[in-house]
Amino acid sequence: MSKNTAALITDRAGHTPKIGLVLGSGLGSLVEAIEDPVSIPYSDLPGFPQPTVSGHSGALVIGTLSGIAVAVLSGRAHYYEEGRADAMRFALEVLKGVGVETLVLTNSAGSLNPEAPPGSVMMISDHLNLAGANPLIGEPSDDRFVGMTTAYDAELRAAAERAAKSEDIALSSGVYAWFSGPSFETPAEIRMARILGADAVGMSTVPEVILARFLGLRVLAFSVITNMAAGITGAELSHNETKEMAPKGGAKLVQLLRHLIGGLP
Ligand code: HPA
Repeated sequence: MSKNTAALITDRAGHTPKIGLVLGSGLGSLVEAIEDPVSIPYSDLPGFPQPTVSGHSGALVIGTLSGIAVAVLSGRAHYYEEGRADAMRFALEVLKGVGVETLVLTNSAGSLNPEAPPGSVMMISDHLNLAGANPLIGEPSDDRFVGMTTAYDAELRAAAERAAKSEDIALSSGVYAWFSGPSFETPAEIRMARILGADAVGMSTVPEVILARFLGLRVLAFSVITNMAAGITGAELSHNETKEMAPKGGAKLVQLLRHLIGGLP
């Protein structure tokens, strides 16, 4: 099935991208940076998720960024929408079928680390799966035993550090903790996550990283920090704040990605 969809997309787009991008909440502006875009709504792609979250549009956009062909999943499905950790499996299988070898994941996140303030970008160096769900539950093959020791590709991270330096963008690096959502965390959960080594918290990305590694894709991931995590400032959190703040850090991330993608190994 994913092969048929991949063939349909390749026919329509006329590009064979090796780089895939997944856009997080409020980061849809990255799509505007894509040149010669061919946009296919998820509703035209059977098996693709139909996002229910405001700030997520739901289209596969194929075009170029810095002259390099890319396939962008603008809009993702989250575990909290239907309780399925594997909601993005088909879409990621299709990206692989189209020729994608490297997946760049983005999200909006709350920060536990004063060195990653709202409006900044954090590169994910590792994760904590605090949601307890796994997208490979039910997968029958032995491939389900995916090694996660080097999930966040060291070579790609080094390239991102270099790109950030050249563009003069402050890029922190840290551990992302996945909570299921959709309610935000409590201050006690954030204190726990801090003790466990988290630098940022969010409701996505981790299942996609697991799926991407299962599919043999190289992974690089970034969090746009939209707020300090629950209890740190005392302010209540909201999805509106996420949507309002994401474009700020999102603009820095687009600048970083333009530079990075031009020179990826
Ligand atoms: N927690 C979880 N997800 C988020 C947050 C947060 O504080 N901010 C943006 N997405």
